[in-house]
Amino acid sequence: MAVASTSLASQLSGPKSVSSYSGLRRSCSKLDHTQSLSLFQHLHSQLRLSSSSRKASRGVVAMAGTGKFFVGGNWKCNGTKDSISKLVSDLNSAKLEADVDVVVAPPFLYIDQVKNSLTDRIEISGQNSWVGKGGAFTGEISVEQLKDIGATWVILGHSERRHVIGEDDQFIGKKAAYALNEGLGVIACIGEKLEEREAGKTFDICFQQLKAFADAVPSWDNIVIAYEPVWAIGTGKVASPEQAQEVHVAVRDWLKKNVSPEVASKTRIIYGGSVNGGNSAELAKKEDIDGFLVGGASLKGPEFATIINSVTAKKVAA
Ligand code: PGA
Repeated sequence: MAVASTSLASQLSGPKSVSSYSGLRRSCSKLDHTQSLSLFQHLHSQLRLSSSSRKASRGVVAMAGTGKFFVGGNWKCNGTKDSISKLVSDLNSAKLEADVDVVVAPPFLYIDQVKNSLTDRIEISGQNSWVGKGGAFTGEISVEQLKDIGATWVILGHSERRHVIGEDDQFIGKKAAYALNEGLGVIACIGEKLEEREAGKTFDICFQQLKAFADAVPSWDNIVIAYEPVWAIGTGKVASPEQAQEVHVAVRDWLKKNVSPEVASKTRIIYGGSVNGGNSAELAKKEDIDGFLVGGASLKGPEFATIINSVTAKKVAA
């Protein structure tokens, strides 16, 4: 488990050379990319070994991966022109931490309204996209149309699409491949149902869903994995930080073994399922939780801002 002590981080970067946080790891302006990469790899291996000194260290940076914190708001099938205009205005006036990628996924009908009124600080995602080029597919929205309207991401494999609409792993994998090939980022959702967890199949289900993505996608450069246990979505039953962390570690390990160590380290693994302003900080402290996918609580601007800003819980844990 990665726990960085301030002294180790400052030994390596030095107070004058710290220029910015990248994925909450300090980056050093005096080093070139290769040097800093190997330095980070060294730091990372040191950190993985340092759990015995965890109690003694203050000022930890709780991030196992190297990606930037990522928070998505999935508005699902909610909202009217008026309520969305209020939500956008609340988001525009919210003070958001800089070290976070923020994305919202409005219903398709309102994407144009949101794109035209929301600050550029926040990117737009579709909640779904068609599996190939648009055409005679009644009721569908194509990747090309999402790009045309200004979206840069799409959520694929959400449990409501898997279990309510009936999309299967292969179909979702194909959708992801198409969207990535056309230049959209993909928020790739995975997660087990309650009966699967109770039967001890959580990892099997998550790995099977991951494999379907891995078998289809051209690259992992533009993918964020959202672990969303189905039993936690919209139920108010959030996974405990330990339950979420356990699956996130397993997912990262799966990526390491089945894709590559580099992809395992740089791919953001975010948690979703009843995240709110009251529980996000505790979850964010877990080192393999790289952000959140938020449903209900993303419909309230100030609460969504609190969740985004829970990145601060990652930077310093007493
Ligand atoms: P919830 O939804 O936060 O309302 O549980 C999460 C999601 O479906 O992405």
